[in-house]
Amino acid sequence: MLRPILATLLALSSGTLLAQTAPTPTATPWWKGAVLYEIYPRSFQDSNGDGVGDLNGITSRLDYLQKLGIDGIWIAPAYPSPQVDFGYDISDYEAIDPQYGTMADFEKLVAAAKQRHIRVLMDMVLNHTSDKDPWFVQSKSSRTDPKRDWYVWRDPKGYDKDGKPIPPNNWQSVFGHSAWEWDAGTKQFYYHRFYVQQPDLNWRNPAVEKAMFDVLRFWLDKGVAGFRLDAIPSLFEDPAMRNEPEKGGTNAYGDPNLNTIYTDNLPEVHGVIARMRKVVAAYPDDRVLIGETYLPNVEELDKWYGGAAKNELQLPMDMLLGFGSGYAGHGKLDATFFRNTINAAETKLQGSEPLFVFSNHDNPRDWDRYSDGVHDLQIAKILATMLLTTRDTALLYYGEELGMKTHTPTRVEDVQDPIGKLGWPKEKGRDGERTPMQWTADAQAGFSTNAHTWLPVAADHTTLNVVSEEQDPNSLLRWYQQLTHLRDSNPAFAPDAKINVLMNTAADVLAYTRAGADGKLVLVAINMSDAPQTLDTSAYVGTGALHTLAASNAPQNNSVKSKQVTLPPFSVWVAEQGQ
Ligand code: NOJ
Repeated sequence: MLRPILATLLALSSGTLLAQTAPTPTATPWWKGAVLYEIYPRSFQDSNGDGVGDLNGITSRLDYLQKLGIDGIWIAPAYPSPQVDFGYDISDYEAIDPQYGTMADFEKLVAAAKQRHIRVLMDMVLNHTSDKDPWFVQSKSSRTDPKRDWYVWRDPKGYDKDGKPIPPNNWQSVFGHSAWEWDAGTKQFYYHRFYVQQPDLNWRNPAVEKAMFDVLRFWLDKGVAGFRLDAIPSLFEDPAMRNEPEKGGTNAYGDPNLNTIYTDNLPEVHGVIARMRKVVAAYPDDRVLIGETYLPNVEELDKWYGGAAKNELQLPMDMLLGFGSGYAGHGKLDATFFRNTINAAETKLQGSEPLFVFSNHDNPRDWDRYSDGVHDLQIAKILATMLLTTRDTALLYYGEELGMKTHTPTRVEDVQDPIGKLGWPKEKGRDGERTPMQWTADAQAGFSTNAHTWLPVAADHTTLNVVSEEQDPNSLLRWYQQLTHLRDSNPAFAPDAKINVLMNTAADVLAYTRAGADGKLVLVAINMSDAPQTLDTSAYVGTGALHTLAASNAPQNNSVKSKQVTLPPFSVWVAEQGQ
């Protein structure tokens, strides 16, 4: 038996802390109430002129992120990859892709971010690897290879009259057509939930779990603050391989719509996550697990926290508020919907922290999903307000703070994202929401010095960019900065400050109060319609004066004593109780 001090030292040096040395989580961990920012590394900042963003580019923009009030950045996969799915097909889990830089660049980024109180989170793809990952290459090499069972291999159901193998069942790839790919060499199919080049790992094999947990430790030892877990609900499949029921109709690829009951959200995933939580809990500084969780309702979402036990993900994404739960998006500025959804997160998650998000690299940007063509800036300010003034951890997507738009390719020959080629013209792919960050009005928007960027810089960068928005007090960027500043400085926006969603307002008004430890209430009132709306504030915040903390366009006077407040069309008013 090791003597205690030696055991502790060994545990510390290997990074795999023993149970008795596991740190106690802080009462208010850093991620609670944090503002997180998703960076698509190809598109944020190119530092070496190759037209593709990189890690040194991110490092060079940390001051901008600090000023924006960002507490943590989530970097979409920057590991070595054939880039079929732009990094979500990883071929080496413990290295950096040379096009993004080196491991030394990564370490430099983590250190420079730390100096600015910004944490770095990695994207972690556990459901599948690239077909070029040595694990899969080995697995595919023969039926008797020790890695064979690391992936999901099945015999054909039979052969058709032309001798073609028939897939084991009707399961489909999210990216179109059968989820089964035939391997002529070993005469079996392998399962891929996403592209053919993304074979699914077999999480029923404990060796897979062990190997992947080691990968997590590798990055935790490098000081990453946590992980965003890609496609986590898809980890397990039904071992009986039953056909999925058809829902009727066809999708953009012409395949029947399926109810994915045998390939999504299988209960076994929760055991894996609870064990993964123990892996991260062994590290100090409140490392966090974030999940990519598109779920139909808040009751389902609660399961990903571990329910009352709260022993699974700290932050499964609430896609209900910003996306109406689906890839298609809700897209309607509907106060009743937002009121009920924010209230459900507050009342049905057993006190767990909601993680709200309106935009990401897989969906058209929120600007386009919610705009009406007339009040677009006001509407974007409303979305920012819900993200930054409710009781939540907030997740932004790069450029959202500028109101960057979705620039979907108009010609199939310009498409980069493979699903856009496969599904054209019904599915045009995700290039539109991945265009380069618009820093300046210069050629290539300050993103790159190369005239040929991996996706074209949007033409509107000449007017819509960081420099111009910094100069305009009414810009969306300045609104985001103002709200993150309020969130950091006013006790009513502290992570634990209660939120009370007002349920009896006019239908088009979303209003809530936040209560800080100093006892002062702050009212957030949003008019989501194109007509003025009246709010009687006395029932919620008494009859004393209300002092404006932030107003997107009204009421313009700084202090309001009247009980009846008129909110102009599409306006936000944030006001604090005073004398
Ligand atoms: C979800 C990611 O966000 C998406 O970009 C990717 O294509 C799939 N998972 C597959 O990894």
